[in-house]
Amino acid sequence: MPDRDRQRLPETVDQQIGPVDASRTQKSPNFAIIIGIPLLLLVLVGGSILLYTNDIFPFSKNSSGGKSNTSNKSNSSGNTGAIVNGRGCTKIGVLLPEATTARWENKDYPLLVAAITKAVPGATVDYNNAQGFADIQQTQAQTDLTNGDCILVLAPVDSIKSSSIVAAAKAKGVPVIAYDRLIYSNDTNSYVSFDGVAVGKLQGDYIAAHYQSYVTANGTPNTVVINGAKEDNNALLFSKGAHQALDPLFSSGALKNIYEKFTRGWINATAQAEMQAALLANSNNIAIAYVANDSMANSVIAALKAVNLNGKVLVTGQDATVAGIQNILKGDQAMTVYKAFTKEASATAQVIAALSAGTGITSLTSGATTQIPLSGYGSIPSILETPVVVDKTKIQSTVIADNFVTVSDICAGLPSGTGGICP
Ligand code: BGC
Repeated sequence: MPDRDRQRLPETVDQQIGPVDASRTQKSPNFAIIIGIPLLLLVLVGGSILLYTNDIFPFSKNSSGGKSNTSNKSNSSGNTGAIVNGRGCTKIGVLLPEATTARWENKDYPLLVAAITKAVPGATVDYNNAQGFADIQQTQAQTDLTNGDCILVLAPVDSIKSSSIVAAAKAKGVPVIAYDRLIYSNDTNSYVSFDGVAVGKLQGDYIAAHYQSYVTANGTPNTVVINGAKEDNNALLFSKGAHQALDPLFSSGALKNIYEKFTRGWINATAQAEMQAALLANSNNIAIAYVANDSMANSVIAALKAVNLNGKVLVTGQDATVAGIQNILKGDQAMTVYKAFTKEASATAQVIAALSAGTGITSLTSGATTQIPLSGYGSIPSILETPVVVDKTKIQSTVIADNFVTVSDICAGLPSGTGGICP
């Protein structure tokens, strides 16, 4: 991992006080022994224990000659200064999945840091991006736990494998918030995301409402379906929502599903290769390309450009990236789905603040839960935000109005007057 991928903001002290080590209570001033007044000794020793357990005694910060203990495990007596279940925690680990999609580094990371440090006074954030590798994410999480992070925010690379991160965290009394992507573990503290089926449904509904002119112009009902990574639970939800809208059209023959793939790691180059393969196998006769997100859509558009079909094939997307909005303005992409990551990050910070304050999260979730889609598994307390469809006509009133993108960013390199937006 390059060093730049691990950003450690200034840490506060005082967060990790280990279980009481009985040997350290023998630091009573030895003048008491010298003058031999047993009563005084008793008072001093008793007082030291009291001060120590209340985190007042100055030697309680791993700085004495006594055994240091920075683990988060609670001790068996329950009389502990360790942080358990996030209570009193200000040292937060944020673990994001990849960097091929613009959102994680450009949006989620800075938004989470800002929201967490605002919601939890004195909070610090350890940030890692797993660059698409579940094993790297596992190691990063382990390092966070070793370093004493006491709440983890985890957008998993792999919804199944990441359950072992939750297990390791649980062993240290550390709650894990599943950020954006569900983790298949009953021990996940909570899940903060958007309604993934609704995202896919918005994409599918858009196709259902607009496919006819594309089918007519291209003289074919051929449709390509490029899903995300099947290791990401979201990709399954998006696909499910899209199919709810598209399957009736496939059944009636209004559209023909000629090629459908899940794309390993959401890798853009793979999406491009998939589109090229579909074009080749169908002599370029394609009218619709359902593409799960903007980053892959951008690569699909590159494949279409190579055969002069950009702007002629209906292409979908998601995330309202700058490149995605530009593609919409240019006419190469029909729509995207805007997910206000600001809301997602701030809801996550609220959960962290509640855990840290020990107040519980029911008032934040309003009792909502998400079922883990494996047999015998339970459901996770959830906060799900609402996604919004964006096409050419809605750019101004949604992503610009919210300052999610700026006019200068989306209009860079575009002719004046583009979309009625660019100066
Ligand atoms: C997220 C999308 C993102 C995709 C690829 C999904 O889990 O919800 O917003 O585009 O992952 O990173």
